[in-house]
Amino acid sequence: MLVTGGAGYIGAHVIRRLLAAGHDLVVIDNLSTGHRQAVGDVPLVVADFADGETLARLGEEGAFGAVIHLAAHAEVAESVAYPERYYRNNVVRSLELLEWIRQAGWGGVVFSSSAAVYGEPAAIPITEDHPTVPTNPYGETKLSFERALAAYDHAHGLPFVALRYFNAAGADPEGGIGEDHGAGESHLIPLLLRAALDDKATVKIFGTDYPTSDGTAVRDYVHVCDLAEAHVQALALLEKKESGFFNLGHGEGFSVREVAGVCALVSGQRIEATEAPRRPGDPAVLVASSRKAREVLGWKPRYPALQEIVGSAWDWHRNHPTGYSKASS
Ligand code: UFG
Repeated sequence: MLVTGGAGYIGAHVIRRLLAAGHDLVVIDNLSTGHRQAVGDVPLVVADFADGETLARLGEEGAFGAVIHLAAHAEVAESVAYPERYYRNNVVRSLELLEWIRQAGWGGVVFSSSAAVYGEPAAIPITEDHPTVPTNPYGETKLSFERALAAYDHAHGLPFVALRYFNAAGADPEGGIGEDHGAGESHLIPLLLRAALDDKATVKIFGTDYPTSDGTAVRDYVHVCDLAEAHVQALALLEKKESGFFNLGHGEGFSVREVAGVCALVSGQRIEATEAPRRPGDPAVLVASSRKAREVLGWKPRYPALQEIVGSAWDWHRNHPTGYSKASS
């Protein structure tokens, strides 16, 4: 299998799970946001995922059974400010990769999609047939590539599985890998847990006027190891030449304030939070129905409790306060 973006947060967990399931892997990652250490012993090619020369060289060593395409820009607020980056990488470059996969005859594609394809939900929990009306360029680009996958399948019989992640969180309980977006960290749980480790840090609560029980935005947090497991199951579906879109979430939403409360409880620390305006592009509520993933893929999350998810993230952050960099090892 070829795994793009295998040095990223979700990618690192996916490759460990795929290895454990007996797959042979090669990771391609330009390390723009990923970490060499996150890849462990898996062969890593440092390059852009759509680099023709690199793909040609990899292809000479034999055809890949499938490509797991995780590499992407993945920050909602950044996508609002710099849409060009998102369209270029998540659509244009990804289409180049897709065309390569088709011409090389590499089995099929497992694609890292996102809850961001839905936009502001009309009904909760969100099912896969919910209208897709993204509220930000990030979601638009994920949806565009999903549509390309469906068109390629229709025209060329190239199977795909698009996994629509809700909010990935937590870290491998066996240690060694976790979330490290460095100084550019924008995600709620790592920011809260870093603030728990640093008396001087405060976390902004983006939006306190949402139509939710406490006015803060609600998300469906899913353990990154549970997301990783779904990739193994997605490959099994591809082997049957079947395609589909699948939500990966728990069906339970937590508000920003509730998440902050769980982080304070798990860490045993006071976490300073201040109220701030809404972040552009953020929907009020995103909660998944993952019934389809459970029924068709056989997906069964092992870590449904938010406290356990946060607990595994806390172990990573307190043992690696500077992430993968040497200072913490
Ligand atoms: N939030 C804060 N303060 C912060 C950071 C986040 O209040 O400092 C809030 C956000 O506004 C949001 C919630 O916490 O309501 C969760 O924010 P994250 O940044 O952790 O996650 P997102 O929901 O924005 O993003 C996740 C994935 C994206 C994906 C998106 C789908 O990381 O890749 O879900 O909307 F696109």
